[in-house]
Amino acid sequence: MTEQTLVLVKPDGVRRNLIGEVIARIERKGYSIVDLKFVQPNESLLREHYEEHVDKPFFPSLLEFMMSGPMVAIRVEGDRVVEGFRSLAGETNPTTAAPGTIRGDLGRDWGTAAIENVVHGSDSTLSAERELAIWFK
Ligand code: CMP
Repeated sequence: MTEQTLVLVKPDGVRRNLIGEVIARIERKGYSIVDLKFVQPNESLLREHYEEHVDKPFFPSLLEFMMSGPMVAIRVEGDRVVEGFRSLAGETNPTTAAPGTIRGDLGRDWGTAAIENVVHGSDSTLSAERELAIWFK
């Protein structure tokens, strides 16, 4: 079923010149990029985006990390792309993410409070709809 998801190239990915690498992996998999922009998010946008994490102990460092530089927001379309991009991204922690995935191949574990894992991908079709409305207002 054709659907859309939100992919973010996080500030670490932009700083490390990995935008093209992330886009290439999305396109090689057969998904289409249908909208894309640079964003410097403010705190209220991130609180909305991460509403399920605002009370977690790591939230302040996550906020600091996500505001540390520009990000690229990408609207990606394809068959089962929500699940498919999660699979391309690999698990949250780059140390244990499988080789072959974006986080497994490119993510670095700096041992800092926020996990810097290069990309974000929506975790369900419902989240994708909610998040796309936030980032592509
Ligand atoms: P993301 O897929 O964008 O969703 C939530 C983010 O919070 C996650 O990527 C990580 O960057 C961060 N995160 C999740 N769990 C932890 C954790 N236990 N400690 C620090 N950061 C985390």
